[in-house]
Amino acid sequence: MDSIPPNLSKIECVPLDSSHIKDVYAVENACFTDPWSEEMFVQLLSNPLAVYTVAVYNGKAVGYAGLYHILSEGQIMNVAVTPEYRRQGIAEKMLKVLVDYAKENDIEVMTLEARKSNNAAISLYEKLGFEIVGERKGYYQHPSDDAVLMNLTV
Ligand SMILES: CC(C)(COP(=O)(O)OP(=O)(O)OC[C@H]1O[C@@H](n2cnc3c(N)ncnc32)[C@H](O)[C@@H]1OP(=O)(O)O)[C@@H](O)C(=O)NCCC(=O)NCCS
Repeated sequence: MDSIPPNLSKIECVPLDSSHIKDVYAVENACFTDPWSEEMFVQLLSNPLAVYTVAVYNGKAVGYAGLYHILSEGQIMNVAVTPEYRRQGIAEKMLKVLVDYAKENDIEVMTLEARKSNNAAISLYEKLGFEIVGERKGYYQHPSDDAVLMNLTV
């Protein structure tokens, strides 16, 4: 394991490419009980709607975040940071890349769902200005949980 980064300036956010897939899939598996398959990440590379950024430290992807750009909406699909690198501003840095993309590309609203029990994620999104706009009962499995829907007007 590489040492924990001494500061955020050592983290570079770059567009997802094929060289990141193995690392991103490892992060996904470390973060979720119901992870995306490696193939799902490969398919992002040829999806014209997908806008993904990867946080790279010492040549290794330690986090990723992405949205689907559909007309004037940016649907945030994934945000994850490998456990050893959390609480250092990496997710915030990646989300700011997506918000900047949204501002520059005529997105009017960014949307997402999060587990109602996921205080870390909800706090993160609130820090970026997202607001809870609704709930979906029983939306998640493994374990079962409700979803909160959050929006950011860009
Ligand atoms: C949620 C997640 C992406 C946050 O990543 P991170 O890099 O640790 O987040 P950051 O360091 O950028 O934190 C930014 C802000 O988010 C909030 N936050 C992050 N982790 C938190 C935690 N464990 N508890 C409370 N607030 C938290 C805080 O407001 C924080 O700002 P602060 O450090 O000034 O208090 C990370 O915990 C993760 O990968 N979790 C598993 C995957 C997941 O749940 N993804 C979201 C799916 S909707």
